Amino acid sequence: MKHNRHPILVQIYDSLKDLYTREELKSLSKIICEDLLKINYLSLYLDKDIIISEKQKKELSSILNRLQQSEPIQYITGQTEFMGHIFNVADGVLIPRAETELLVDMIIKRESKVTRILDIGTGSGCIAISLCKGIAGSYVEAWDVSSEALKIAEGNNLKNNSSVVFKQIDLFNVSPTDSFFDLIVSNPPYITEKERIGMDRNVLDWEPDLALFVPNNDPLIYYRKIAEISKSLLHENGVLYFEINRLFGKEIVVMLKNMGYSNVELMQDFYHCDRFIRAEKWVQ
Ligand SMILES: C[S@@+](CC[C@H](N)C(=O)[O-])C[C@H]1O[C@@H](n2cnc3c(N)ncnc32)[C@H](O)[C@@H]1O
Repeated sequence: MKHNRHPILVQIYDSLKDLYTREELKSLSKIICEDLLKINYLSLYLDKDIIISEKQKKELSSILNRLQQSEPIQYITGQTEFMGHIFNVADGVLIPRAETELLVDMIIKRESKVTRILDIGTGSGCIAISLCKGIAGSYVEAWDVSSEALKIAEGNNLKNNSSVVFKQIDLFNVSPTDSFFDLIVSNPPYITEKERIGMDRNVLDWEPDLALFVPNNDPLIYYRKIAEISKSLLHENGVLYFEINRLFGKEIVVMLKNMGYSNVELMQDFYHCDRFIRAEKWVQ
């Protein structure tokens, strides 16, 4: 890497080589040059004498310093892509994950007729906004307890020219409502405290605990509550979709069946891990 490369590429490589794999370094270098420093990446490869301004040099040092502290690149650029749309992110919201794209894609393909959708624990608004744009004519409402997350989600709604209705609601404190939905979806916090060991620093040190963790002694706390309130929030033949911790798939299926949900399906992600659940509300 070192000899025929532009000094900027050498600096990026040398500063980050102990923290990232070769593949990650390649994609980080491209993002740093093109999205942050506004320098064409290919031209740096082709011409190692390209002049870099003092301002760009300073900016690069600050970016590298942040990356050395394990800050996710998405928080540094302030953006990420999800389902082909660009979402603003900051350290008050979870960075949308590729698994969640699978969930949204599945809903768009299987549930194209639904008209009223609720997303519980919306974070950046990635699920709600992508469903609103992907299912024509749908009304989409999205809740989060975090005002920081809701501010970012509202900004993403505007940015993506979408019409999701965001509400600050604590799902453990929902008041009786007459809003009925055809579909409720949630990717709630699902990592147990004991799983902290072994997690990457860029998640642990930077992403909000409120979006990630559940107590060791009650890992299904969010699923149980959401399934319970969905009994009254869903229409008679409404459906519930969850993204789940791969360790608790079978337990959540049993819980939903015991609560009266029918046709409970457990589905896997790219790595063949249990990751999603679809359940239908029973008809009384
Ligand atoms: C795993 S994140 C999911 C964010 C987003 N839906 C996504 O898929 O990227 C869970 C979200 O649930 C929210 N949350 C946590 N506790 C909540 C509560 N009691 N009521 C409502 N939302 C809550 C968090 O603020 C966070 O935004």
